[in-house]
Amino acid sequence: MGYRVVVAGATGNVGREMLNILAERQFPVDEIAALASRKSLGTEVSFGDKTLKTQDLDTFDFKGWDIALFAIGSEATKKYAPGAAKAGCLVIDNSSLYRYDHDVPLIVPEVNADAIEGYAKRMIIANPNCSTAQMVVALKPLHDRAKIKRVVVSTYQSVSGAGKGGMDELWDQTKGMYVPGQEKAPSTFQKQIAFNVIPQIDVFLEDGSTKEEWKMVAETKKIIDKSIKVTATCVRVPVFVGHSEAVNIETEEFLDEDEARDILREAPGIMVVDKREPGGYTTPVECVGDFATFISRIRQDSTIENGLNFWCVSDNLRKGAALNAVQIAELYGSRVLKKG
Ligand SMILES: NC(=O)c1ccc[n+]([C@@H]2O[C@H](COP(=O)([O-])OP(=O)(O)OC[C@H]3O[C@@H](n4cnc5c(N)ncnc54)[C@H](OP(=O)(O)O)[C@@H]3O)[C@@H](O)[C@H]2O)c1
Repeated sequence: MGYRVVVAGATGNVGREMLNILAERQFPVDEIAALASRKSLGTEVSFGDKTLKTQDLDTFDFKGWDIALFAIGSEATKKYAPGAAKAGCLVIDNSSLYRYDHDVPLIVPEVNADAIEGYAKRMIIANPNCSTAQMVVALKPLHDRAKIKRVVVSTYQSVSGAGKGGMDELWDQTKGMYVPGQEKAPSTFQKQIAFNVIPQIDVFLEDGSTKEEWKMVAETKKIIDKSIKVTATCVRVPVFVGHSEAVNIETEEFLDEDEARDILREAPGIMVVDKREPGGYTTPVECVGDFATFISRIRQDSTIENGLNFWCVSDNLRKGAALNAVQIAELYGSRVLKKG
């Protein structure tokens, strides 16, 4: 006996990956519904070797469905998630709407799987921001060994993190550079993204940081340990898929770079690729379609007593969104529903 599963946002970047990953991981599905907005009614999406026709989220009845994976943005989530949860269907949400709600667990299964116990308060579980998800997978085993005091992170985030619109803008703007008359002005992004980098993701806050940077701080604290100090600079780069991060950590206890490498090699969800030779590290194009978070360039930071640097790369549509959501569904299935 399997589960009745809904994917809301099935025509989007994350929704399509959710369907791929459910099929790839052979999630025990008895029935599956692909939902999107009314304008996509009947649009075909793939689920393994099957084709599903998209249904209208606005008229969908969630009663009798076990799990709904939501990837539709905060505004639409606000409108539809409470109804689904009230109907008894667990919502696993990819938007930022519920992430900071005390009654909603924020889960990365490799890091804080036990937080699943809090699911029943609202029948909603939040998926973290894409940049946070891959970073905490790497931080947790190091924190367990040496207690991380402070994290300094700079991100290099791909355009797919801004949805279909972001990918189209990079493609069209790049083409427009070479084809007269096809120039494309910025619309999803604040400035030209083709052949450029933009040090702004999401809106500015009063203290001069951006909302994306704030999310990395707040979510790391909620998922791992509220005592960890995090400072982030989030940058959009002209890469289609795959977020990269340069991470610096300061720990309470000394942690040797070789021991850190060994710890990360053993940690769940991580693949260490760290050869000190040209090309002996992972870049975003190599991580696309993979489940792992790749760690490279692990080295001591000699400017402080207990410091380490590393490079962290992952497929943002997978570990940063769809894969993590499916892993939460697997966790809910094995610990709560116990049907599969
Ligand atoms: N991309 C990432 O790396 C990433 C990572 C973590 C979290 N997220 C979050 O995941 C969510 C989806 O992101 P995405 O990148 O997949 O966006 P996207 O490619 O723009 O897709 C958005 C999806 O939501 C649907 N949708 C939007 N408004 C709707 C409404 N009112 N009613 C029904 N369906 C609606 C769209 O359906 P139509 O096609 O019918 O418009 C589409 O299927 C966002 O909350 C985003 O912040 C994304």
